[in-house]
Amino acid sequence: MTAVHADTKISHADGAVPGAIALFVDNVILAFGGLTVLNGISLNVRMGELLALIGPNGAGKTSVLNCISGLYRPSSGRIRVGDTDITGFKPDRVARLGVSRTFQHGELFPQMSVIDNLLTARHARIDTAAFSEIFRTRAARREEERHRTHVEGVLKFVELERYRDAIAGDLSFGQQKIVGFARALAAEPSVLLLDEPSAGLSRDDREGLA
Ligand SMILES: Nc1ncnc2c1ncn2[C@@H]1O[C@H](COP(=O)(O)OP(=O)(O)O)[C@@H](O)[C@H]1O
Ligand SMILES: [Mg+2]
Repeated sequence: MTAVHADTKISHADGAVPGAIALFVDNVILAFGGLTVLNGISLNVRMGELLALIGPNGAGKTSVLNCISGLYRPSSGRIRVGDTDITGFKPDRVARLGVSRTFQHGELFPQMSVIDNLLTARHARIDTAAFSEIFRTRAARREEERHRTHVEGVLKFVELERYRDAIAGDLSFGQQKIVGFARALAAEPSVLLLDEPSAGLSRDDREGLA
């Protein structure tokens, strides 16, 4: 395993159940012009395992997530999700393979309700060309109902049911952060990437999130 910077630690949680490798990052180098941001990062995460990237501001944590989720294209190295090599894939393609993420700042649709924000995560799973075609069919309505039921379950899990119809942008910073987390969860990902999940949260909110 290679650290991003000398002072960046990759820490595997104790007691994780070892399963098949869900995420594999091998010797990823990322450079912008002359600036090498990631200098040969390697890590792997097994099913059911929790892995934390710890490092100071600017160490490259977000850049690692950006490479995995397809926002950045590594200069070299390989990234696999399960058995699929996703190096260079576009973000929507990576998402469809079951990788979901949160962002450090402002990832919600602020004018939309909480429930609708969560539903966007479900609709990302649907082939949009087929979606408009079949929208009026009974099967499509059942599918829509299934998405709603799933999303209501996620809202309950994160204890935000009472905010289901609130406008996302009106919520507190901590609540928005949890909605962002819930939206990532709503996609039923096999790999969930959380960028600074607890930064800026109060102690209560942090405990709630954990
Ligand atoms: N798109 C980009 N263009 C140029 N430099 C970038 C870009 N994205 C990140 N960096 C640089 O990469 C380094 C790591 O940033 P980042 O991954 O955001 O660190 P962290 O999330 O650990 O705070 C920083 O020096 C940052 O300025
Ligand atoms: Mg960051």
